[in-house]
Amino acid sequence: MEVVILADHQAIGAVAADAVESLITRKPTAVLGLATGSSPLPVYDELARRHAHDGLQFAQAHGFALDEYVGLPPGHPESYREVIRREFTSRIDIRPENVHGPDGSAEDIPGACLSYEEAIRTAGGIDLQLLGVGTDGHIGFNEPGSSLASRTRIKTLIEQTRRDNARFFDSIDDVPHHVVTQGLGTIMDARHVVLIATGAQKACAVHDFVEGPVAAVCAASILQLHPHATILIDEAAASKLKLADYYRYTFDNKPVWQGL
Ligand code: GLP
Repeated sequence: MEVVILADHQAIGAVAADAVESLITRKPTAVLGLATGSSPLPVYDELARRHAHDGLQFAQAHGFALDEYVGLPPGHPESYREVIRREFTSRIDIRPENVHGPDGSAEDIPGACLSYEEAIRTAGGIDLQLLGVGTDGHIGFNEPGSSLASRTRIKTLIEQTRRDNARFFDSIDDVPHHVVTQGLGTIMDARHVVLIATGAQKACAVHDFVEGPVAAVCAASILQLHPHATILIDEAAASKLKLADYYRYTFDNKPVWQGL
């Protein structure tokens, strides 16, 4: 796990966009794992800018969303499929048919989850998975207690997550209780995981998953077992880390050839 502490969300967006650009340049057919929430927005903005101004191409790339609400009608502005389209994929040249998301409105949810896992495998697996983290340490929608080996499945949201996400809806009553999410095992199969967290409200979760024990009660802690996990955080999100100075020193003195 590499922890990189950067000045602000713009700097984080640029570093994460560098990782995506380097991947897509050496592998134009790359499979991107796409997250929602506020954390990845600076990355999407920067990639859209590079597409428009520097000719960065996504024409052969594939995208797989991490998660989806259950019960929102297709096309609902807060469905994650729609958020990813609006915030990212409609701003680049990725083909709409190459962008996939778990189907939260399927009649057969377990069947749709199996198909989603199969679609990821058929595409060759996820090369780079973008992630945010919930205040309770969730990644995707893997709430505390999620099996560390879980695959795509239905989950029930914890009340705190519904409160955190209520800002995207008219009222908390409109936030669904159920979701479909890639499992922790699914996320762990990605070749490179890039997690972004900013702001003091994430400091406890960041401390717990980076420096606490690997435990289902803090789902993101499974990333300690990932061979290539990059954690991009700002100073506020880093404020509870015991080894912050060491992470800064390591990044500042990293051989350039290592990349991210
Ligand atoms: C939601 C999403 C997660 C995201 C989390 C944090 O619960 N399912 O993928 O990481 O929100 O969101 P934000 O980045 O807005 O803090």
